[in-house]
Amino acid sequence: MIHQALKRLEYRGYDSVGEVTVEGSRLFVKKDSGRLEEVHQKYNLDDLPGSTGVGHTRWATHGRPVQENAHPQVDCHSRIAVVHNGIIENYVDFKRDLEAKGHKFFSRTDTEIVPHQVEEYVKQGMSLEEAFRKTLSQLEGAYSLVLLSSLVPRTIICARQESPLVLGIGQGESYCASDISAFLPLTKRAVVLEEGEMAILNPSGIKILKTRDAEPVNRDPISITWSVESATKEGFRHFMLKEVHEQVQTIKDAMRTHQIYYDLMAGKLAEAKRIFVAACGTSYHAGLVGSFALSRLAGLDARVVIASELSEEVLDLVDKNTAILAVSQSGETMDTLNAVRDSKAKGASILSITNVMGSTLMRLSDVYIGQNCGPEIGVAGTKTFTSQVAVLLRLAAALAKNKGREKEQRAREVVDALYRTPEIIQDILHTKEEVVRRIALSIIGAPSICFLGRGVSVATALEGRLKLLELSYVPAIAYPAGESKHGFISVIEEGFPVVFVAPKDETHKKVIGNIMEMKARGARIISLIQEGDDEVRSLSDDVVEIPGGKLPSLVSPIAYTVPLQLLAYYLSVGKGHDPDYPRNLAKSVTVE
Ligand code: AGP
Repeated sequence: MIHQALKRLEYRGYDSVGEVTVEGSRLFVKKDSGRLEEVHQKYNLDDLPGSTGVGHTRWATHGRPVQENAHPQVDCHSRIAVVHNGIIENYVDFKRDLEAKGHKFFSRTDTEIVPHQVEEYVKQGMSLEEAFRKTLSQLEGAYSLVLLSSLVPRTIICARQESPLVLGIGQGESYCASDISAFLPLTKRAVVLEEGEMAILNPSGIKILKTRDAEPVNRDPISITWSVESATKEGFRHFMLKEVHEQVQTIKDAMRTHQIYYDLMAGKLAEAKRIFVAACGTSYHAGLVGSFALSRLAGLDARVVIASELSEEVLDLVDKNTAILAVSQSGETMDTLNAVRDSKAKGASILSITNVMGSTLMRLSDVYIGQNCGPEIGVAGTKTFTSQVAVLLRLAAALAKNKGREKEQRAREVVDALYRTPEIIQDILHTKEEVVRRIALSIIGAPSICFLGRGVSVATALEGRLKLLELSYVPAIAYPAGESKHGFISVIEEGFPVVFVAPKDETHKKVIGNIMEMKARGARIISLIQEGDDEVRSLSDDVVEIPGGKLPSLVSPIAYTVPLQLLAYYLSVGKGHDPDYPRNLAKSVTVE
């Protein structure tokens, strides 16, 4: 049953698999790195004793995908097993404290502190439930946690904070899972566990409590009518749309990486005499934002290079005093790996930002930072772009330390604004999706579309262009707005759609000039503006207003890219294409 349920959850993470059951006074664990069927071939996951069990598929955040980091994680005496989705931000403090008390750790995961801390409290005389609740009250970060123990067999305890967890009520059986699709063929009766709640499951039923004070919660089950397929998309028509919506959460998750990793990477960058940012496609656009940020917040000259061109363009300049900052969501893009390998051979230090722990890029790197986005199924990068930008901005902010009061202040403003972006994205998705959908339908017949911006918004314009052309197959152009008058403007004729990325930042006045130039030649102006920007509104045929007030320009690509993702999505769907699997493209390009 668990094996089948894991199959339905594999799209959420698939670098390692584990199962644990309890029978008598023993836990039985099978786990390893690899995809579900590979691990099953090796260990036969269906052969575990008992009638209470937990399974997990992992997408690594802390610790590479190797057997000891797979879940479940257990305490010192293998009596308490825990699986976890999310990130425990303060695990380093717990680990230090528990090690001092004699606990032995076997993994590099943040998760492992949970069974050990629960063990510690049980040793002090608490019940398993109390010990778990007390541990939860001290955790910072995001989690859905499920605990199974031989101390109280035929019981599962689970809890959630910011990561999803749903309960299922069967006939003499109870279930919990990170999404409904896991148990949908077994029961259609479900209860959603809310933030800050925990639940105790046994075959005869489910008890829900508030984690904070153990106050009981009564919640009626709901009847689920979704198919397994629509449940994996959480009701969204496509994975891409689901992933666009997930950005509210993934930005938060990207921000959870401990400051020590940023300081480590910042130290390497600060030592380097030359910095090249190497990436392809969407990751290149994130890299562009990163290079702006490194120069503005830290005064560093970091040149962004398209990875496939690095060896031709700058390899002669690469030496042991060079740092290569490679950005790649998959960590397997051949062009990026070649740039990294060529540079490494010349002694450069390799730093990377990637979404896939255990990827080749991660293994080639001296220091890496994970994006913590979870798997992205849609071929178009969406949530991974905004999280790359968030990580790069935090990195640049870490480098602003000791760079003078002005830079430090700017860095603080950027980090503060970063923490506001999830709410802004939420607002855009609630209030602007229909606006964007209508704009998309109104330009569905356009033979070409142009995206313009200035400053860091050039990166946003380039990203909007890439999304649109890869999903709708409409040839699209993106330019620094100021450059457009040096040639491109001759293309403009009556009704040509030009999308301006026009936040109210230091480029605003000049962008208005560029809008007028385009308007005077008959272009149809579609502008992304700060809410209430009447000046640009009055010059535009359509506007999408970005809520949240004034954002530091470096942060604006995170918010202003979201409507452009939606524009590409609705244009693609409107033309009858499949935005999840656009023609001729692969999610990870592993050829030169
Ligand atoms: C993005 O929408 C594209 N599918 C593509 O450009 C992608 O960003 C590029 O291939 C780089 O991939 P990576 O981040 O996995 O290295």
